[in-house]
Amino acid sequence: MSASPRLAVLGSGKGSNFVALQEAILAGKLDAQIVLVISDLPDAVILSKAAAFGLPTATLPPSPFRTKLSPEGESALVELLRKNDIEWVVLAGYMRVVKEPLLNAFAGRIINIHPSLLPAFKGLRAWEQALLAGVKETGCTVHFVNQDVDAGEIIAQQRVPILPQDTPETLHARIQVAEHELYPDALAKVLSDRRRPWGNP
Ligand code: GRF
Repeated sequence: MSASPRLAVLGSGKGSNFVALQEAILAGKLDAQIVLVISDLPDAVILSKAAAFGLPTATLPPSPFRTKLSPEGESALVELLRKNDIEWVVLAGYMRVVKEPLLNAFAGRIINIHPSLLPAFKGLRAWEQALLAGVKETGCTVHFVNQDVDAGEIIAQQRVPILPQDTPETLHARIQVAEHELYPDALAKVLSDRRRPWGNP
């Protein structure tokens, strides 16, 4: 039997999707191993959650830009991933736009989860965008990452109803419940398909 695919998880926030992935791995529902958890923010909760699972963590050096790493920072990240023999990069609440050379180094092997039914409501606070638009349902999407933000090939989606009394917080919480189901399942689907008909650059 071949070794489980080696993942790095990148996140900037509270890491609930990372926890869902690691729990799915421990429960034998996702054949993968999280080798490294990386954050751009030294105090991100995702790092302490990773440490609580006994997983190695790394923090990226500060970037001069708010929304992306510097080209040097992105190169250092590629080095770190290569040094750890990472095969797949899994974004879980990572708040920087992925640029070259990372995109090229891991073409077709970077995956993200977004809190809307893409292509609707790309960008930040997608649940709030859905609420303000007055739509009756939203959801979450697992997709490949390419050079266009929240626009790579869609792997899987899950619908979430919007209730009349919803606030941004209650809606985001309901979307997150769906995310925690969808992300491990969608990732398992991608990783088990060794022929990779997906996400070809
Ligand atoms: C999720 O809603 C995800 O869709 C978005 O950022 C949030 C991360 O949440 N990309 P968490 O850090 O996994 O709890």
